[in-house]
Amino acid sequence: MSATILVTGGAGFIGSHSVDQLLSEGHHVRVLDNFSSGKKRNLPEHPRLEIVTGDVRNRADVDRAMDGVERCLHLAAQVSVARSVSHPDESAQHNVMGTLQVLHAACRHGLSRVVYASSAAVYGTPENLPLSEGARLRPLSPYGLEKWINERYASLQHQLHGLSTLGFRYFNVYGPRQDPQSPYAGVIALFVDALRHNRSPTVFGDGGQTRDFVFVADVARMNARALFSEHQGVCNLATGKASSLLDLIAALNTLLESQQVPRFDAPRSEDIRHSLGATARLHKWFGLKEPRSLEDGLKALIEHDARWTAQGPQEGQMA
Ligand code: UD1
Repeated sequence: MSATILVTGGAGFIGSHSVDQLLSEGHHVRVLDNFSSGKKRNLPEHPRLEIVTGDVRNRADVDRAMDGVERCLHLAAQVSVARSVSHPDESAQHNVMGTLQVLHAACRHGLSRVVYASSAAVYGTPENLPLSEGARLRPLSPYGLEKWINERYASLQHQLHGLSTLGFRYFNVYGPRQDPQSPYAGVIALFVDALRHNRSPTVFGDGGQTRDFVFVADVARMNARALFSEHQGVCNLATGKASSLLDLIAALNTLLESQQVPRFDAPRSEDIRHSLGATARLHKWFGLKEPRSLEDGLKALIEHDARWTAQGPQEGQMA
């Protein structure tokens, strides 16, 4: 059955893939985006897609966007961990007050469900791996703390008003449309860009640090699935598999038929060594049994980039 779904931040990286997924499932989608980092070119021309330019911090904008909507995927955020450290007030305005506007509006408009972006950043330095949802939360940045506050607000709105919510703790999401030029670009976007331009990738530290890399199309599928489930609370969105940066460079060299050797630089302060998500809850609640392997995901990313270069953005979009 088709529904009308609001996607805040729908022109961004994860947002635009989620919009594609929801449209492919036959839903009507409304995007609310202020286009500060999201891009119109990330979105398709589609008869069931409506775009509202506005800001989640603005009550009138959120009211306008939520009118007639049944479910909401809330992804609009200030996504830079570094910026949250240098500008914590501005970051909290976006990430805490923006989310509060969305949750409160969802209650006023009688929405049946809100799925929102939390982050593995809520965990901070792990005590044990893999990180399960019950692990102690010790965020290392205002960004991580803001996401944790959002989880608490969502749970409180459930308790006070019966609003059904699910927060996904995204691990390291990668895939097409992640902009390597952005100051917040993830390591995969940066490494692919370096290798494609015959540059050495810069590794901060010894390259032995590991991450749980999740392909964005899997994230989009899980977002869509969660919107139509009843599960309440938080859930990791991870693959349960760890890859080191050196593994990553080796895989990319094979796929791109290059032989780049990394340039090693000082480790980032506050960098964590290992990150790996437990996936039992994700499997049980949302059935992501076989997430895309890193190799397959990298292949899809590289093929997408090649099409984009050859044909331009519209034809380059992923199905
Ligand atoms: C990621 C998320 C962040 C989230 C955090 C939670 C991204 C872009 N960031 O941060 O939003 O809060 O997980 O755990 O997904 N690196 C290099 N060379 C580079 C770039 C990065 O060696 O050119 C290293 C970093 O030092 C780090 C690893 O690669 O060790 C991953 O970095 P990055 O992609 O920025 O993600 P996280 O720091 O894990």
